[in-house]
Amino acid sequence: MNIAVFCSGSGTNLQAIIDAEKRGHIKAVIKIVVSDVPDCYALIRAKKAGIKILLVEKGNFKSKDEFDRYILDNLKNEKIDLIVLAGYMRLLTGAFINEYKNKILNIHPALLPSFKGTHGIRDAFSYGVKVTGPTVHFVTEDMDAGPIVLQAPIMVREDDTESTLGEAIHAEEHKVYPRAIQLFIEGRLKIEGRKVKII
Ligand code: GAR
Repeated sequence: MNIAVFCSGSGTNLQAIIDAEKRGHIKAVIKIVVSDVPDCYALIRAKKAGIKILLVEKGNFKSKDEFDRYILDNLKNEKIDLIVLAGYMRLLTGAFINEYKNKILNIHPALLPSFKGTHGIRDAFSYGVKVTGPTVHFVTEDMDAGPIVLQAPIMVREDDTESTLGEAIHAEEHKVYPRAIQLFIEGRLKIEGRKVKII
């Protein structure tokens, strides 16, 4: 199975996925890393791992559709079976999602459906929750609202700061995302309406 990982940031989840692939915990090939941010650290990680890179800068395209079409054409060339969003901070169009229906995973740093959006850690921390943690879900047209694959609850400690909580969440992400990806690869995720059964 061929995987594409989409990133916009530091790429620690990408690194966890690369490491899991190397250890044989993910039985697939990361064929390409797609990024919309030219100087993000995720691209350096991809280069170090010898993975092909596709840089897509929005300014170089006339429309969002053209932007997405360009990515899709590249994914087709690489025969990509699964798209893994790992800190990719751009919304995909409905047409794009339809082309890879039920074949796009995302990780969000809060227990969905709470604290959707781009600041899941900060929003949960300032709200004062006692439990939070990452969610892996299938991507649908509604942001952060697709069927949930796995969640990893973390207790918020009395002495936590946003930063220490963030570290704990990232550490969990690096375990739960490779696990979810391998479940997908093994064909063990069965979507039934809003629910994902692990078979
Ligand atoms: C991760 O914490 C991920 O959950 C979050 O971006 C971070 C990327 O970190 N994603 C979102 O907030 C999506 N709404 P990384 O670049 O180090 O993997």
